[in-house]
Amino acid sequence: AVRDTAEEEQCSVYVVGGFVRDLLLSVPTQDLDFVVEGSGGQFAQALMKRMPNGKLTQHITFGTAQIIFPDGSHLDIASTRWEHYSFPGALPQVEESCLRDDLFRRDFTINSMAICLNTDRFGELVDYYGGKQDLQQGKIRFLHNISFIDDPTRMIRAIRFAERYYFSFAKETLDALYTAIETGVLGKLSVERFSEEMLLILKENNYLAMGQTLVKCGLLNAWFGKELAWNFNLDDAEESVNWSLNIRWLSSVSRMDSAEIESLLERVCLNKSLRDETIHYIHLRESLKESLSLSEMDRLLTKAPKEVVFVLARDESYKHKISECLKAAQRINMSLDGKALIKMGVKQGPEIGKILDRVRMAWLEGKISTTEEEQLMARK
Ligand code: CTP
Repeated sequence: AVRDTAEEEQCSVYVVGGFVRDLLLSVPTQDLDFVVEGSGGQFAQALMKRMPNGKLTQHITFGTAQIIFPDGSHLDIASTRWEHYSFPGALPQVEESCLRDDLFRRDFTINSMAICLNTDRFGELVDYYGGKQDLQQGKIRFLHNISFIDDPTRMIRAIRFAERYYFSFAKETLDALYTAIETGVLGKLSVERFSEEMLLILKENNYLAMGQTLVKCGLLNAWFGKELAWNFNLDDAEESVNWSLNIRWLSSVSRMDSAEIESLLERVCLNKSLRDETIHYIHLRESLKESLSLSEMDRLLTKAPKEVVFVLARDESYKHKISECLKAAQRINMSLDGKALIKMGVKQGPEIGKILDRVRMAWLEGKISTTEEEQLMARK
């Protein structure tokens, strides 16, 4: 459809960026970014006629359009463009340009390649800046030396790509990374953009190595303005592949003290679930420091999100307490519930909760072990 639309609209169309990089690396990829030499918006509208399932959204100021399909997948379409940054970390101002300039404004050589989709040049690789060679040699190399100053998120992206593909940095790119950190350019980055990049890191299989590098090169210290006890332990690498984003985040902050985590929350923008779980994590950890009865522990653990319990249960300081309580909770085999109590003649109201609580505690403490004993305990 893209090829036919390109013929119809008489413009050149290319797939660019991450898709080309991953195609050459034979790595599976989903996102498709197209650039059009001409009007991306007009091209997107023409393409829509061939894609009746799609929904078109256009961003006139950025010269971009997106077609979203019912399964959530999408195509991004842009006019070839040049971007100016009015100050470091700002969103770019956009101007139309040729493909060569469009590719030059990008972050790294490995992301600056395009493949033509027009019939007469179908599959032709456009590689002005040595991207293919850098891919073969495993190098992260910027295209111009103010790249990190223009857009400081690229420092985090550079580390993400390096660790994702096991690439190393070209010397001048590494030097520029350190210089950019020293000049404090990160301070110009918004909390939202920084957080977005951090979350992308946490979604990567190899996020632990990425986290370690971010700490080692001083980037996280520069952002937070202090040294925090991040936990990016490579010993967790195998296990962490199956961890959810929330578990990865909670585990990353698990060596910090509560005041540090609270101050960290002021410098990152997290979704509600992640923020709430972090706060729950701090509270539960503080409570577990106290000496608690089995029933108090059970109450806290039952109320806590599973991910919070999971991360605390991996912590040497709380492992034992939690596993004792969870083991005791396995004894609970309650058949009673509110409805059953009402049938037994208990009046609807707070009494029901109290009885259920009492019965649960009796199971937990091993005072009852059968349904008959449970009934007796409820009637007490
Ligand atoms: N890009 C850039 N500078 C940024 C972000 C993106 O130059 N700060 C360019 C790169 O050419 C990149 C393309 O925009 O390839 C698409 O960006 P994005 O979708 O964020 O990244 P991908 O390269 O597709 O990487 P990923 O596999 O992580 O999605």
